Order: sequence, then structure tokens, then C-alpha cells
Amino acid sequence: MPIKSLALSGFRNFQSLKLDLSPRVNIFYGSNGSGKTSILEATNLLSLARSFRTIKYKHYINHDLESCTLFAEIDSIAARSSIPIGLQRNRNGALRIRVSGEDIDSASVLAELLPVQLINADTFLLLEGSPSIRRQFVDWGGFHSDSRFLATWKAVKRALKQRNSLLKYGKLDPRERATWDREFVRHAEALDEFRQAYIDTLLPCFSQVLSGLIEIEDLSLQYYRGWDRKRTMDQVLQEGFERDKGLGFTQQGPQRADLRVKVRGVAASEILSRGQQKLVVSALKVAQGLILKQLSGRDCVYLIDDLPAELDRNHRQKLCNLLIEMNSQLLLTCVEASAFDGCLNQESEVRDFHIRNGRLVSDNAYGS
Ligand SMILES: Nc1ncnc2c1ncn2[C@@H]1O[C@H](COP(=O)(O)OP(=O)(O)O)[C@@H](O)[C@H]1O
Ligand SMILES: [Mg+2]
Repeated sequence: MPIKSLALSGFRNFQSLKLDLSPRVNIFYGSNGSGKTSILEATNLLSLARSFRTIKYKHYINHDLESCTLFAEIDSIAARSSIPIGLQRNRNGALRIRVSGEDIDSASVLAELLPVQLINADTFLLLEGSPSIRRQFVDWGGFHSDSRFLATWKAVKRALKQRNSLLKYGKLDPRERATWDREFVRHAEALDEFRQAYIDTLLPCFSQVLSGLIEIEDLSLQYYRGWDRKRTMDQVLQEGFERDKGLGFTQQGPQRADLRVKVRGVAASEILSRGQQKLVVSALKVAQGLILKQLSGRDCVYLIDDLPAELDRNHRQKLCNLLIEMNSQLLLTCVEASAFDGCLNQESEVRDFHIRNGRLVSDNAYGS
């Protein structure tokens, strides 16, 4: 489901920009501060309704304007036409999402139409950062592989919120407590099963992708469900109740799940070089794209920020080849137009776009 065209207005340093994209490889080049990363940020925002650079929407709206509008046409084989999607964010916080001319109240519709994967300088955080980043990664996969996932995920969140608020402020009527505990247990176990099933599918694919990029001995990936293997969720809640009450929140459960990447039994982030970490994370993201394709026939759009600064030429080439073989649409950024010379061939339907100070200076088929 490649993006046919992308339009931004009032976003970061772009007053207005319209791009006709290649369904395969798109290279955005230009000097620092020209707006390349902002184009990836806008695309990511169109998928997730949130920025990867800031949680404050005011920061991405152009300083001189009241709102920003992002728009894309997505090529859909299923719909046999293109689907227009749009997102508008106002300084006062108002968010408007439109799909095929209709207002939509859930951003998950966007994520479904436009699955994106981001590889940038912060990518290593998937190994080094907090478990919530890894849960997001696993849940992205769960969401895209099973239509029941989202409802379960939301049910866990609701039950947990309710239980925690009872623990903190409630009088804890035993019957009310039992009702929320039952609700929590049921959905927590279902969520764990979805996550486990997804990881089981992902693992062999990840190993294969990684071995095509780099050899790392004794690397293992372990899913931790958020509570110990020996006890049921119900037992954990009952046995931990007094402690939960003292703390005012539920200590164990799927809200503590994690994906542990280890090398010789030690956290990968403690042992691997930055470059190796980036390759491991890239392999995870490529594997997610492959699984998505395998399960639903849909393709991810890969947003790759400043790859030349991240990886040496040999690994850059290997990663690009993998992504091109997958038939994915790529949006790549770099400073020099020549950064991908030798990594891409003429058949890859490459378009390059020269960006300068929030404007498109030129766009060309690669090498023409
Ligand atoms: N809200 C905003 N309004 C106007 N300009 C902005 C805003 N936020 C960032 N900028 C500017 O937009 C430019 C975009 O930067 P960026 O996309 O990171 O560039 P690149 O990736 O090409 O180095 C920077 O020069 C930055 O100062
Ligand atoms: Mg940048």
C-alpha cells in the first residue's frame, strides 16, 4: 500500500509541499535543517497520529500558523483505487482525521491503512530504552496480525485503570474488587496469548533477516509476559494484593511485559556496539514488515532517516537490498544526493527530491 502522493501544509518549516512519490524508493536530500526529517515525521504522523520527535503538537505546527494539515493518497489493491487520508492539527489541540472524505474518530484506522516502520538515530532505544518501547513494538505486530487484538488491549487498559484507581482511592468493596479482578485476568491472559503468538511467528523470521545482515553469536530474544510463569494472573493478583494496595497500583501483569534481547545471556545493549544494535533493531523492523506481508498481504512503508550516518556502506547496502527485495516503499533521507550510489540500481524505481529551506527544489528519476 504505497503512498502515491504526500502533501504538507503548515508543518514545521513547510508552508506547503506536494510530492508525487515513487511506489518504491524515494530519496530526500539536502543540507541540515532543510526539512528532510520533517517529511518522515509527517508521514509517521499520518499513520500513528503522533510524532516521533515530540509529544507537544504545537512544536510541529509551523511557528507562524494556527494549524497544520497533512494529506496522502494511499494506493490500495483491495479498494482498487487510491484512498485519501488527511490529518489536521490545530494549535488549540483539535485533531481532525479524514479517510475517504469522512471524519474518523479513531486513529487506528490510519494505522491500518498506512503501516509504517521507522529507522532513525533513536532506533537503538528499542534495545536500550524502557520496556514500554518494546511493548509498543510487540503490540504494533499484534494489532496488525489479529483484528481482535485492539479490543483486548483496550480492555486490559480499562480494567487496569479501574483497578489502580480502586487501589489508590477506593474503599475496596470486596465484590467490586472481585469483578474488576476477573475482568483484568480474563483480558490480561488473552493479551498475553496474542503477544506470545506474534512473537512465535516473528522469531524465526527475525533470525533469518539478522543472519543476512550481520553475524552475532548467541543472540536470543525472550518474551516476558509481565508476571512469573509459575503462577496464573489470578494468583498473582490475590497474592500481591496487600502490596498492590500499599503501592496504590498493580505491580504485575501485561502492563509490565517486555521483549528481552540478550547476547550470551546479557542485555544486548550492554554488549553490542551502536552499529550492531542498529542492525539488530533494523532486522526486527524488517521482520515485522515481512510478517505483516505474510499474514495480510500488506506492505509497510519504511521511513529511514539519515542511514549513511547510521551504517557503513556495506551494511547500508545489505539493508537497502533487503527492503527493495521486499517490494516495500522506502522514504530515505541523506545530506548528499550521492549517499546511496551503489546501494540502489536503476530498476528500483528511484525518485530523488532535493529539499532546501522547506521547499522542494527539484525532483528527478534517479540518475536522470
Ligand atoms: N514549528 C516549526 N515552525 C517552523 N520551522 C520549524 C518548526 N519546527 C522546526 N522548524 C525548522 O524546520 C527545519 C526542519 O528540520 P529537519 O526536518 O529536522 O531538517 P533536516 O532533517 O533536513 O536536517 C529546521 O530548520 C527547524 O529549525
Ligand atoms: Mg534530519
